[in-house]
Amino acid sequence: MVEIDKERLPRHVAIIMDGNGRWATQRGLNRIAGHRRGKDSVKDVVEAARRLGIEYLSLYAFSSENWQRPKTEVQALMRFLRHYLASEIKRMMKHGIRLEAIGNLRRLPPEVQTALRKAIHQTRDNDGMTVVLAVSYGSREEITEAARSIAAEVHRGELAPDEVTEELVASRLSTAGIPDPDLLIRTSGEMRVSNFQLWQIAYTEIYVTDTRWPDFREQNFLEAIAHYQQRERRFGRTQEQTKLRAAH
Ligand code: IPE
Ligand code: IPE
Ligand code: MG
Repeated sequence: MVEIDKERLPRHVAIIMDGNGRWATQRGLNRIAGHRRGKDSVKDVVEAARRLGIEYLSLYAFSSENWQRPKTEVQALMRFLRHYLASEIKRMMKHGIRLEAIGNLRRLPPEVQTALRKAIHQTRDNDGMTVVLAVSYGSREEITEAARSIAAEVHRGELAPDEVTEELVASRLSTAGIPDPDLLIRTSGEMRVSNFQLWQIAYTEIYVTDTRWPDFREQNFLEAIAHYQQRERRFGRTQEQTKLRAAH
């Protein structure tokens, strides 16, 4: 049993769900079988996070760069996404889960956009936990878009350069209103962030596990939280200052 301190839960957990392809290849299956199996991990981890009392769970499901994958794989992923949304709305309603999405959603096939919009709309008043699905998401694209919109406002004379603060930039990202992740989990061993929330993870604790996403279940999630609770978050201060602050 993993010991979790309910008083010190991360408010926002983000997951880079990686390793579906390798999970399948290792078993002599095609990569798509790995993605299919990965859906079960999503269901399991969403429920585990909800039970635990996590406020925000972000799931990186498809990156801007993933569009470059073979067409058949992209199509399968889009199909799974649509099925997931259609089949999970009921469960989201039952557990009070609100769905949000970040990313370049206009690039998604129309039927996926419709399913996504419908799920977001139906769950908008739920207040149990927010699941933020990152699909067709790339952080550089997101930051570039924010810079472009700020530049246009300055150009029109609606905003002075001095008014461009960290808060303003953050408010123009697709994650506006969502607290920065406290914990970022990456499955399948890769020590990189692959264009995920580059601005938002400035002080996020990173946890990498070798477990492939299709094998990652509630127990693995709890282990990641337990590891997070061992960390000392200093935000640039000294250890001594950090301890003093924690005591108050
Ligand atoms: C994660 O698994 C799912 C997506 C990126 C869409 P991968 O498909 O990247 O699996 P590996 O990394 O090739 O094993
Ligand atoms: C990151 O995984 C994106 C998602 C999990 C959705 P990738 O498999 O695309 O990342 P790289 O290519 O190994 O960096
Ligand atoms: Mg991968």
